[in-house]
Amino acid sequence: MSSDFSTSHIALSSLESFQLGSSLLPRVWSGLWQLSSNAWGTAPLPRIREAMARHVGIGYTAFADHYGSAEIIFGQFRRSLPPDQHVFGATKWCVFTNIELSQELVEAAVKERMERMQTECIDLLQFHWQDYSDKGYLRALEILEGLQADGLISALGLCNFDSIRTDEICTQLGPGVISSNQVQFSLIDTRPLHGMADVCEKHGIRLLCYGVLCGGFLSDTWLNKPMPDRYSNKLTPSQRKYLDIIVGAWGDWQLFQDLLGVLKNIGDSYGLSVSNIATRWVLDHSFVGAVIIGTRLGISEHLDDNRRVNDFRLNDNDKAALEVVLNRSSGRHIITTIGDCGAEYR
Ligand SMILES: NC(=O)c1ccc[n+]([C@@H]2O[C@H](COP(=O)([O-])OP(=O)(O)OC[C@H]3O[C@@H](n4cnc5c(N)ncnc54)[C@H](OP(=O)(O)O)[C@@H]3O)[C@@H](O)[C@H]2O)c1
Repeated sequence: MSSDFSTSHIALSSLESFQLGSSLLPRVWSGLWQLSSNAWGTAPLPRIREAMARHVGIGYTAFADHYGSAEIIFGQFRRSLPPDQHVFGATKWCVFTNIELSQELVEAAVKERMERMQTECIDLLQFHWQDYSDKGYLRALEILEGLQADGLISALGLCNFDSIRTDEICTQLGPGVISSNQVQFSLIDTRPLHGMADVCEKHGIRLLCYGVLCGGFLSDTWLNKPMPDRYSNKLTPSQRKYLDIIVGAWGDWQLFQDLLGVLKNIGDSYGLSVSNIATRWVLDHSFVGAVIIGTRLGISEHLDDNRRVNDFRLNDNDKAALEVVLNRSSGRHIITTIGDCGAEYR
């Protein structure tokens, strides 16, 4: 593996990768929620496209999610690439309200995604269903499976489904139909360790993880800094979401500082950043396919730093040092206080 981080055209083969359906993909994806509103700052479209091109140039060829205009911007960017350059686009179909399910309705939702992304086949469609008391999610997934068989979708995934429903769905649909579940997983939110990991193992699915850096709080930037005001307009929507978890369900700001201190010590021993260690901790779990790191395209960039997560592994001492802090937190109880994966949205 190359250790020259300045190299701009690095093949995927030199990055850590994993298989998702028929695609071999990098284990670090770029998340596009940060494109959805000017609360993260705004950049002109050409600058966003240039930033996307830089990601692709170093082998970060997978982009995720549907927020705001993200599908459209991604679709336009991908269209502009030479036909032999494959860039992977994951999107979502989210059902938040009770609906009258039909083949036509599901097909229309899928075709809308295809149109926005300018594609004949969606690389990964992740399905979210809000109300578990309505078992329509099973029927919806069967219809999506049919559309997959028709060639409209390559891989079918879930988003924010809990362990019980993920197991139910994978059992009902049979092996190989569902590829992934997108859930929150980080040093702060370890819920997938308590049930979801076993479900992934049982059905051969992988997690696509968000919240890995808690919106950027798990970085050198926040070490030895006072707790920010939740209502400060300097925080991004992402940081507001994770601050509530850090100082609410998980622990307090001082304990978080202790965690950053341990991450810093481990990072220093490898010449790496706090974010690298936090990302590696997630990637080191076998049920994790990829991390989806939020990217403020055209505004801030951590490409070279995040590239370094490919080149090292945490040892037992590193993991033990992190466990000492995690054991002082309420992290292990989040599954009972908030509920299993995705419960914070229900
Ligand atoms: N399914 C869901 O319900 C759901 C929910 C949330 C997110 N997501 C997905 O997950 C993606 C990730 O979003 P997230 O909110 O969870 O954010 P995140 O990935 O935890 O944090 C992203 C932020 O971390 C900072 N960062 C990244 N690399 C860094 C590095 N090497 N050093 C220092 N800071 C670094 C950047 O902050 P700066 O830009 O400030 O530098 C970046 O904006 C989203 O785009 C979306 O696709 C899904």
